[in-house]
Amino acid sequence: MLRRTWTRLYSMNSHVASQFKNQNLLKTEAFVNGKWVSSGKTFAVTDPAKDTDNELAQVTDMPTDAFESAVEDAYTAFASFKKVSGRDRGAMLQKLYQLMIDNADDLAKLIVLENGKPYADALGEVKYSASFFQWFAEEAPRVYGTVIPSADSQKRILALKQPVGVCGIMTPWNFPSAMISRKMGAAMATGCTVVIRPASETPLSALALAYLAEQAGFPAGTVNVLPSSSASASGKVLTQHPKVKKVSFTGSTRVGKILMEQSSSTLKKLSMELGGNAPFIVFEDADLDAAAQGAMVSKFRSSGQTCVCANRLYIHEKVYDEFAKKFVALVNKTKMGYGLDEGITHGPLINQKSMDKVREHIDDAVKKGAKVLAGGNKLPNLGENFHELTVLGDVTKDMVITQDETFGPVCPLIKFSTDEEVIAAANDTDVGLAGYFFSKDVSRLFTVGEELNVGMIGVNAGGISEAALPFGGVGEAGFGREGSKYGIDDYTVVKAMVVGL
Ligand code: SIN
Repeated sequence: MLRRTWTRLYSMNSHVASQFKNQNLLKTEAFVNGKWVSSGKTFAVTDPAKDTDNELAQVTDMPTDAFESAVEDAYTAFASFKKVSGRDRGAMLQKLYQLMIDNADDLAKLIVLENGKPYADALGEVKYSASFFQWFAEEAPRVYGTVIPSADSQKRILALKQPVGVCGIMTPWNFPSAMISRKMGAAMATGCTVVIRPASETPLSALALAYLAEQAGFPAGTVNVLPSSSASASGKVLTQHPKVKKVSFTGSTRVGKILMEQSSSTLKKLSMELGGNAPFIVFEDADLDAAAQGAMVSKFRSSGQTCVCANRLYIHEKVYDEFAKKFVALVNKTKMGYGLDEGITHGPLINQKSMDKVREHIDDAVKKGAKVLAGGNKLPNLGENFHELTVLGDVTKDMVITQDETFGPVCPLIKFSTDEEVIAAANDTDVGLAGYFFSKDVSRLFTVGEELNVGMIGVNAGGISEAALPFGGVGEAGFGREGSKYGIDDYTVVKAMVVGL
């Protein structure tokens, strides 16, 4: 049974806690209906960069009945929150943005500890995450409807955009903060209420956000964050509870399909941000220095653990050798290590399962004739989750790495000779999240840009993510758009009213 408590039950490891300026951010209990609560059971959150002495905290493990009661609380809160003006909701979001910026250093450290990414990247994520609250603070007062002329001159049609209701939000470990704010920002801007289940690997950043949301003045019940060690049990409640009207999920295509099926019994509105297999194409006329830099950003951001990471690099045969040389030189300048140490550019994989996949992709490719141009090995001296940034040359389409998302620091280089050939190869996948190409020929904006089956394209750009981007995919990469002006639509329903004169 849910045990509500008014005392702070820290079980954050004390040597971890001592590194933080604002200790209030270190929460290990769930935030439900405006209160910090615990279930009596906990699970361990660990630092992926460490093999021993790696426990960061024991976090409360919320059972399914706690999710059910949180949904009821969010449902009750929705009745009044939907009536708060967009301007006032925007003010709360703006305050939350500012609180994140004020606490950016601590929030970044939390991300380093539970996710492993280096401090500079983690700080980047905090700013990226906060920018969604800022963006949606600005959108909140502008959730416009329309007045539509009727076929009957004695009538008018009004189309109102109304908040969809209670939203179940499930987020991954690779962006412990930003994947929450991208969804929660849009939800709160429209007047929805949220029940958030963060990834069990990274609940600390989510709980810190809940604390800041409380400080920002969001009313009790509007923002609920419940850690759980069972993604499937908590996911079932959020997808099957009749009072949850929308589910937003970022994660694998496999899990997305299960959640979609579960949601069908109550026909929920859905946003699915799922897997990727991004092609990255370097044409013969590309600026090769820019392309190599772009590939570094796109492929190796978070050590390859983002769903928009380039997964397959197609290089025109005329520039293949030169590009490979420039790219490998950049890879060799990176420094892998513990995220809070000076000068570290890349961190560990999240766990051994990820390591196994990386090894499978490398071993399969090498067995079939790929050449290791950089890296290629595990780094056990740093820790069991560390793997070198790796570049593989002479990769061919029979190798598993070209068909399956690696989600790790391995970059296959594949030669091509014509535009038609590379477009066909790039589109030879069911998942179309992001794609990239480098070329100076503007006509390729249309001949290539329009042909690639993806939701987002970087043209002469390896980094594409920001709050203004309509983020989302096509095919089995999912549907719905997050961030941007379109992000609001996913949290609203259109109500039409026909008015007789
Ligand atoms: C993701 O990997 O799921 C998101 C990446 C991004 O927002 O850039």
